[in-house]
Amino acid sequence: MSTPSFWLRCEKKPFERRAALTPTTAKKLIDAGFEIVVERDDQRIFDDAEYEAVGCKLVDNNSWPSAPTHYPIIGLKELPVSDDPLPHTHIQFAHCYKKQGGWSSVLARFYKGGGTLYDIEFLNDAIGRRVAAFGYHAGFAGAAAGALAFSAQRKGEKLGQLEPYPNEDAMISDVKQRLGGSGKGVRALVIGALGRCGRGAVDLFKKIGLEENDILKWDMAETAKGGPFQEILDVDIFVNCIYLSSPIPHFLTYDQIRQAGKDRRLSVVVDVSCDTTNPHNPIPIYSINTTFDAPTVPVDVGTGNPPLLVISIDHLPTLLPREASEQFSSDLLPSLLDFPKRDHARVWVDAETLYKEKLAEAVKAEGL
Ligand SMILES: NC(=O)c1ccc[n+]([C@@H]2O[C@H](COP(=O)([O-])OP(=O)(O)OC[C@H]3O[C@@H](n4cnc5c(N)ncnc54)[C@H](O)[C@@H]3O)[C@@H](O)[C@H]2O)c1
Repeated sequence: MSTPSFWLRCEKKPFERRAALTPTTAKKLIDAGFEIVVERDDQRIFDDAEYEAVGCKLVDNNSWPSAPTHYPIIGLKELPVSDDPLPHTHIQFAHCYKKQGGWSSVLARFYKGGGTLYDIEFLNDAIGRRVAAFGYHAGFAGAAAGALAFSAQRKGEKLGQLEPYPNEDAMISDVKQRLGGSGKGVRALVIGALGRCGRGAVDLFKKIGLEENDILKWDMAETAKGGPFQEILDVDIFVNCIYLSSPIPHFLTYDQIRQAGKDRRLSVVVDVSCDTTNPHNPIPIYSINTTFDAPTVPVDVGTGNPPLLVISIDHLPTLLPREASEQFSSDLLPSLLDFPKRDHARVWVDAETLYKEKLAEAVKAEGL
């Protein structure tokens, strides 16, 4: 039997510093008998030397297109746009199964090259939960960004560009320092608090020093009465972390904000869920996704009322690339260890079945 292997490719999306395989998981795979090839990558949060030290074989940046086709190529984000056929097996987030822009041309590349796509977003466990997701660190980073925006606003300043932090401690101490030493006295409400993102947001608020009573944790039970909710206006920072699966009453509205006038405490909304363009967005007070270089957008609150900002960044875990990668990669590890048995390991069989369905749709759409 040939040696099982993975080829970790570089990431080419701007600001993307995360990695699908970390030196920690690479070592566990090597210990289990895998060969791990890693492309040198300055953009990645982990140094090339960290991979080399655990026994990975280092190769040139972006050299995967000429790798022998028996290597499964693993990465996180979409490949740069191209028409080149893809002959390899790729494990990644491809964002092409929900008919996103350009979906059929991405799949056409696999069709033309004879490769296979295993989309990580659709690797599910036996009860349909994703085996690996970045939610926890999205909530954690979103709450941190919210606290930074709040502290800037309190000083009459505007939050500037967000820079990824080298590690969690650096993030916590920066946020605390900008809040004047601690988040004590700040009040926050997290909706979707029992989910992955919500748990991350609650943990960040605890770590920066908010008092337990000042972190309101809501989930289905608390929103069952139906919005809009006055309670949101009575905190400094509101973090939305729900998974929106069906239409629900709005949580917050323009009318409600304007009617509250100067009596509103709320100064920052972090919409981690980012259902920005969804017609059922429960927070219809903004219409764009914000970015690391311009993290906040002001809400039209009516003349004379205190300002209100929204953060709606859709790649928040990038703010904490090291920890986000470690957690994600370790959640993915059991499935990766099963990859050599992909012909009968359920997680991979299901993912391949889905790929074939989507490929057939793309072949039709592209007239191939
Ligand atoms: N902005 C980003 O960078 C980023 C990154 C990862 C995930 N997300 C998004 O965050 C959202 C949440 O992801 P997750 O992994 O935490 O999901 P999850 O399923 O783990 O958690 C969602 C939580 O929301 C709760 N919920 C659902 N509807 C609710 C309602 N009406 N009222 C109160 N609570 C409600 C659920 O009970 C659950 O506890 C998803 O939309 C996901 O796409 C955003």
